[in-house]
Amino acid sequence: MFGRVKPLDAILATAEKKSLHRSLGAFQLTMLGVGAVIGTGIFVLTAEAAQKAGPGMMISFIIAGFVCAVAALCYAEMASMVPVSGSAYTYSYAVMGELIAWMVGWALILEYAVAAGAVSVGWSGYVVGLIENAFHIDIPDLLVRGPYDGGVVNLPAMLIAGLVTWLLVIGTKESASVNAVLVAIKVSALTLFIILAVPVMKMENFEPFAPLGFGGIGAAAASIFFAYVGFDAVSTAAEETKNPQRNMPIGLIGSLAICTVFYLLVAAGVIGSVGAQPVLDANGLGMEPGSRELAAQCLAMGDQAVVCSKEALAWTLREIGWPKIGNLIGLAAGLALPSVILMMMFGQTRIFFVMSRDGLLPASFSKIHPRYNTPHVITILTGIFVALFAAFFPVGLLANISNSGTLFAFAAVSIAVLVIRRREPGRHRPFRTPAIYLTSPLAFAGCLYLFYKLDVKSQMLFVAWAAVGLVVYYAYSRSRSHVGRGLVEVHEADADAPPQPVPPIN
Ligand code: ALA
Repeated sequence: MFGRVKPLDAILATAEKKSLHRSLGAFQLTMLGVGAVIGTGIFVLTAEAAQKAGPGMMISFIIAGFVCAVAALCYAEMASMVPVSGSAYTYSYAVMGELIAWMVGWALILEYAVAAGAVSVGWSGYVVGLIENAFHIDIPDLLVRGPYDGGVVNLPAMLIAGLVTWLLVIGTKESASVNAVLVAIKVSALTLFIILAVPVMKMENFEPFAPLGFGGIGAAAASIFFAYVGFDAVSTAAEETKNPQRNMPIGLIGSLAICTVFYLLVAAGVIGSVGAQPVLDANGLGMEPGSRELAAQCLAMGDQAVVCSKEALAWTLREIGWPKIGNLIGLAAGLALPSVILMMMFGQTRIFFVMSRDGLLPASFSKIHPRYNTPHVITILTGIFVALFAAFFPVGLLANISNSGTLFAFAAVSIAVLVIRRREPGRHRPFRTPAIYLTSPLAFAGCLYLFYKLDVKSQMLFVAWAAVGLVVYYAYSRSRSHVGRGLVEVHEADADAPPQPVPPIN
């Protein structure tokens, strides 16, 4: 039924060859997850969520977190059973065949590359705010915002994307200790925010709770889903995990739970301290976040609403009388967000690399730099696209487009895990998804719901992207596929394989 399938045993033979040392415990996995997850979502998109849902965004955070939790449990079974690189793409290849795997890989380009663009724009907002507020230098909007957002080009966002590309080309890999420091910076920044904002909450700021109805809450959930993306980093560490049956779910659910608690407290802090009502148009409808109309309206209002801010948390603290701490939060975001960009771009090059090695993309994509030992061709190509996305598009749109790809990949994994459970019930599974007949359909339905609640522009872009993907597959990849040509070897243990996206933690 599924056509060309890459034999699971061939994939697994590779994993055995690799046999990484099992060193990760529950705590380290949780830190890994928190490090990969906290980023632009909470620091920046909180303002977008407020514009869509008002105070009801608290519910949006819960909905998005729940969908991620059930998807995470499906991911974990696949990751522990097929612990090789390529994540959703590789799982789909083994279970549902080449065409679906190709579509998932194609969608993962949206997940990773476009997300890296979104985080770059988020970084730019905070760094520009920091420079303007701490040094009183006024930077013209034209140079720090994209054309949809009241500017011409977002130069700082381009710059950070370029810098991260360079780091990846020369082979930078985030070490466990750097990850730990960055987690500490992010968690301290959010904690400080909560400590200062929560005590000055006013209950009346929560009224009206859902000014744009449940539709608005769902739409905000579809956007804020971005804030949770990245936990797949935990499942890809399955092979290095001690006692995965116990530690994987603790790591996955633990990091998601910690993030959800932080996100809810931060959201409550923003809503309660400065209010989070959306800016409405003449018809009483919420203006589209990241649109020229909203940018113009915000300008007219003197940017006096959190939904207008590009640096929601720093802005809130300045409003409630903590300008220096606001700048400190800006500094924390400025230091920590590049590592999220790095992980995303790393993930992207890794997916391209595996797809190229399977013959579905040109072999030159997996060329390795003789000195740095990194896939430099594909890294630079990815970097160019990320920089262009970051230069010209608003963060909310990029996040939503990225979400569309991620949701597709999550949906595919949640089906794959059920298909393979039925087809090969006896296969060794270091981790089994609990209550799979409930968890897997819930994950699938949740992804479908969030996709449906995305804005139409992102949905259309996703469909167009998928259509282009199909054309490329039939015009180029299908005839060159190694599996199609009878070659099923997997080269995971080759010396030319670039390092794993997940840093080993000792
Ligand atoms: N979850 C990551 C972020 O919010 C992608 O930046």
